[in-house]
Amino acid sequence: MTDESWEIQMKIIMLGAPGAGKGTQAKMIAEKYSIPHISTGDIFRANISQGTELGMEAKKFMDQGLLVPDELTVKILLDRVAKEDCKNGYVLDGFPRTIPQAEVLDKALTELGDKVDYAINVDVPDESIITRMSGRRACVKCGATYHVKYNAPKAEDVCDACGEGLVLRDDDHPETVTKRLNVYHDQTQPLIEYYSKKDILKAVDGTVDMKDVFGAIVAILGE
Ligand code: AP5
Ligand code: MG
Ligand code: ZN
Repeated sequence: MTDESWEIQMKIIMLGAPGAGKGTQAKMIAEKYSIPHISTGDIFRANISQGTELGMEAKKFMDQGLLVPDELTVKILLDRVAKEDCKNGYVLDGFPRTIPQAEVLDKALTELGDKVDYAINVDVPDESIITRMSGRRACVKCGATYHVKYNAPKAEDVCDACGEGLVLRDDDHPETVTKRLNVYHDQTQPLIEYYSKKDILKAVDGTVDMKDVFGAIVAILGE
């Protein structure tokens, strides 16, 4: 640990529709503030590519655009945030996604005398989402995300960070994206009010250039 990192204590949640840019921004936050980026979606995809039992179970739901049941998701997340590298904070991307998940996280943190510091809602209207998703390319190995037009990798379909081949995610086909949007409005959007009531909700416009979205986030979190 470096000397200056001790005073940074940030537990951040990224909220937003599928494709809003949670992962893109979470990666930049993690780098700037030296905290881990934890994406439950990435954890599930890594398990799918390794063919684990968890991966096989999660895939049944993910391919249909449905949420993986809370019982499976919560345990994975709580185990992950208990790791040593999380003691100065973390940025959660894709968790919580339901009110019960948020309640479990709050309860676990309260027991440690701790709390979530910021819930950042990356706001993008549904109309923009479908176009974004069809151009997205993902690295299953390291979790990096690209876009054929807005954020192209240096070599076509090759990850800049690790050299792995890039894929169109199975759940990024338009029919599944529509389903995921419905699930989002139904089960995840209520979290906006949940965190607003706790006075930690911050909203940023997710339709502008990704660097400007990040600028708005840094203005909230501090330089
Ligand atoms: P998850 O992997 O979390 O997917 P998601 O929430 O649907 O979100 P995405 O990863 O699709 O989008 P994003 O907001 O990260 O956007 P990105 O930065 O990539 O979850 C997948 C599935 O796993 C779920 O459907 C569920 O089944 C399961 N799951 C995961 N967590 C769960 C949980 N807690 N409980 C239950 N089930 C769970 O950006 C999108 C694209 O747009 C990219 O191509 C990017 O380059 C581009 N882009 C980003 N920002 C901009 C910008 N400002 N301008 C232009 N393009 C941009
Ligand atoms: Mg993501
Ligand atoms: Zn990679």
